[in-house]
Amino acid sequence: MNRELRKTIIAGNWKMNMLSSEVQAYKDELVKLVPGFKTWCDAVVCVPFVILPAALQAFDSTDVGVGAQNLSQFESGAYTGEVSVAQLTDIGTEYVIIGHSERREYYGETDESVNEKLKATLTSSMCPIVCVGETLQQRETGVTGDLVAMQVKIALNGISAEQMKNVVIAYEPVWAIGTGMTATPEDAQVVCSAIRNVLADLYDKKTADAVSILYGGSMNDKNAQELLAQPDIDGGLIGGASLKPAAFATIINAANQ
Ligand code: PGA
Repeated sequence: MNRELRKTIIAGNWKMNMLSSEVQAYKDELVKLVPGFKTWCDAVVCVPFVILPAALQAFDSTDVGVGAQNLSQFESGAYTGEVSVAQLTDIGTEYVIIGHSERREYYGETDESVNEKLKATLTSSMCPIVCVGETLQQRETGVTGDLVAMQVKIALNGISAEQMKNVVIAYEPVWAIGTGMTATPEDAQVVCSAIRNVLADLYDKKTADAVSILYGGSMNDKNAQELLAQPDIDGGLIGGASLKPAAFATIINAANQ
């Protein structure tokens, strides 16, 4: 992390877990355990669409932000089952995850659709968290750097340096997600730093230095501190461990270093 240059962000990704009726108890436990966190990081929970109203209400009186896990690239119209930027912002959604590897793997999202979703999000006040990352096979083939650079370049195609002030990138190696196989802090740092170099090439060093780059993939209460100590890892996108308020709180507190 480098708090002088950029924001530290700890984001939970609840995926397809939790019920609206469970949100209040989660919030009560979490906020008790993270007093004053706003002085060292932004904390967010990204929840299923139907849980957004309950989460927005429960976290309204707190400093914890609320985000969605996906959105449509289209403005409105005949897109059954989709949710638009306007519908998310209308209820007060502050963040949105774009291009999570599970969306890419199971729902056919591509670098191009990620780019379209990012452009749609940037017409609003929501903060996009754009996910990139390699599969195990790609890592073993030695193409991680090239692959992640390509994902970043396509996702950011047509996005200005000014717009980058509102974009967050999450490096999530696919093989580390939900597997308990965390990248070593050194390996995660190498890729996060490479992403920053890509940003410096696309824009300039000042713009690149100001972008928060999160690590995701089996980050938990035990390994968060080491990962967050890396200079180019500015936070986490946390799945499994964000479902337990105590573990998520430990990660938020680990960012206070
Ligand atoms: P995990 O998920 O922490 O359960 O590995 C991370 C993510 O998918 O964002």
